Amino acid sequence: MTKIIDLKNNYSKDKIEDAAKSIKDGKLVLFPTETVYGIGADGLNEKAVKEIFIAKGRAQDNPLILHVSSIEMVDTIAKDITDLEKKLMDKFFPGPLTIVFKKKEIVPASVVANLDTVCIRMPSNPVAHDLIELSNTPIAAPSANISGKPSGTNINDIFEEFDGKVDYILDGGDAKIGLESTIVRVIDNEIHILRPGGITKKDLESVCDNVIIDAHVLESVKPGDKILSPGMKYKHYAPNTKCILIYSNDKDKLINKMKEYENNNDSLVITRESNQKYFKNSISYGESLEDISHNIFRILREVDRKNVSLVIIEGVKAEGLGLAIMNRLIRACSHNYIEL
Ligand code: TXA
Ligand code: MG
Repeated sequence: MTKIIDLKNNYSKDKIEDAAKSIKDGKLVLFPTETVYGIGADGLNEKAVKEIFIAKGRAQDNPLILHVSSIEMVDTIAKDITDLEKKLMDKFFPGPLTIVFKKKEIVPASVVANLDTVCIRMPSNPVAHDLIELSNTPIAAPSANISGKPSGTNINDIFEEFDGKVDYILDGGDAKIGLESTIVRVIDNEIHILRPGGITKKDLESVCDNVIIDAHVLESVKPGDKILSPGMKYKHYAPNTKCILIYSNDKDKLINKMKEYENNNDSLVITRESNQKYFKNSISYGESLEDISHNIFRILREVDRKNVSLVIIEGVKAEGLGLAIMNRLIRACSHNYIEL
């Protein structure tokens, strides 16, 4: 049976000791991070990790991120760490950055889907940090959602998906950022952004002049394309209802196109609060990029309950945190995207 531990108020480390014991025993624990919730298991226990793939319905060839609580723990699983990788860790660990390293032998092949690399992240959320420290092992954890669905940013949204499948659900309230971590890989002294997130290109440029946004961050994967991260090829974040994403930096053009779609369909509009006045049936995703990042996965999970045949989503400028938002929205809309 799944036990829920409410850590929203008065968190103390002793409240998660039993959950950490479950991790050591090879069981699954759903836990909060500053980005999204994760569904975790002992990352060095092949059998435990297998259960994550089953619980999520995740493809075996899509590797997992290992979460650590210290740099010493990074050294146990990564090798040949370069100066630039060290600089990235110094600056951004703990926080919403994941780095692709060369892996050490100790990391099971099933965690990394037979790659010779391993993704590592050090979460800043205290519950996540303490869970890893108490378990005394790197915790493998993908986002807490059934594969293909929007990532879980609060317990209400994901309880039904994971009730009975995990030993513990650690309820830490709303995830602060709401989008998954930025994933980077260093190649020839250049930083390649494989998945944009809370750490932006500009943030990364503070440690290295050469930061490259991988083409597949906004474009779909075509047959024959070389991809740097297996996750790029999968359908992600998508409601069952058909969605269209519309963006223009000319506000009149943007609103008019969205209204045209609204009038021609039995539809729901997802837009900025200040633009709701233009539409008949809308939900607001907030106003600032931080609001949108924080709210968007929860809202994408709501739309299937609205019984409409089309969801029209207002896009944002694909820059800074906006790049991370557009990366998720383009996928949520299965690349059904109009830019004017
Ligand atoms: O914020 C996050 O990163 C959250 C929280 C829970 O930490 N986790 C997360 O995990 O988003 P997941 O499994 O949903 O996404 C991890 C992505 C996948 O797209 C996977 O393909 C990619 O990371 N990945 C994992 N290992 C990789 C590797 N060795 N090389 C390239 N990409 C990798
Ligand atoms: Mg995910």
